[in-house]
Amino acid sequence: MSLKESILKVLEENRDQFVSGQELAERLNVSRAAVWKAVKKLRQEGHEIIASPNNGYRLEYLSDILSEPGIRLYLSPENKDLPIFIFDEVESTNSLAKKLAAEGAQNGSIIVAEGQSKGRGRMGRSCYSPSGTGLYMSMILSVHEDMNSALFTTIYAGVAVCRVINRFVDKEAKIKWVNDILIDGKKVCGILTESISDFESGMVETVILGIGLNIKTENFPDEIREIADSISVYHIPRNRFVAEIANEVLCLKHQSRKTVIEEYKRRSIMLGKEIEYSDKGRRRSGKVLDINDNGHLIVKEESGRVTALMYGEVVVKKAGLYKS
Ligand code: BTN
Repeated sequence: MSLKESILKVLEENRDQFVSGQELAERLNVSRAAVWKAVKKLRQEGHEIIASPNNGYRLEYLSDILSEPGIRLYLSPENKDLPIFIFDEVESTNSLAKKLAAEGAQNGSIIVAEGQSKGRGRMGRSCYSPSGTGLYMSMILSVHEDMNSALFTTIYAGVAVCRVINRFVDKEAKIKWVNDILIDGKKVCGILTESISDFESGMVETVILGIGLNIKTENFPDEIREIADSISVYHIPRNRFVAEIANEVLCLKHQSRKTVIEEYKRRSIMLGKEIEYSDKGRRRSGKVLDINDNGHLIVKEESGRVTALMYGEVVVKKAGLYKS
């Protein structure tokens, strides 16, 4: 770890208090001048570090730059050594994660960026990803499972993100099938799961789990202003969100499907709703009866025909958008 990172680690571990230059120099076995030079570099990178002649250095309460020490601080012991890749601006963390997975990146690798220029959403849509205000994160998950099980990762991820949001936000995070996360009926998070399969075995070998969470974004483009929102959490560093989501995703993977689907259903806005959807290219509508143990949406049409939807886009037929 470089001196700069070591200093950031100590400052992150002591967010609310000053650490003297003397102490930093002694702990890291360098001169006080070297400490000052490294602090200067950290400031140039955007870290807000307060320097007080009598007290030393302190990370400003709201300083919020993605960093490896900042993320590791909140990873649980079993995840402490996960590979972390941090970027300033990338086209898409999911695209990058795919490339890293092909190059052999380890299970659980975390890829995050301050911003994305071509953030990708489901159904070929784009994902608005302004720098510094949201969380744009992908994880590489080695799975070796059939497509049905791999699809369930989306369900796990939705529940994991909701749990983390609700550690910091009082209003219950809800889910619009499959994985739009809503607060007060507006979308605050989208999840894009992509798979890398083995042609011979037909099995999914790797899932790329992409999560885009609006944390502090205040201005949205016209076309999504009515339907998008942020969780508006300013006092928790995004580093902590990255780590807690990673912890929760990896921990949930060991929980029974039953437990996860029960929570998913409890948070779902879909049950009993009239929806429109597309099935084999045909527009259809019906009422949501249930979400089954595989995470499929069970829909009954007026004709009595019952369908299990595995994936796709559904529209809830109700004024006021996704309000449950
Ligand atoms: C959706 O709502 O349609 C899904 C949005 C997923 C966005 C995230 S941001 C991080 C990751 N990288 C991407 O390009 N997309 C996902």
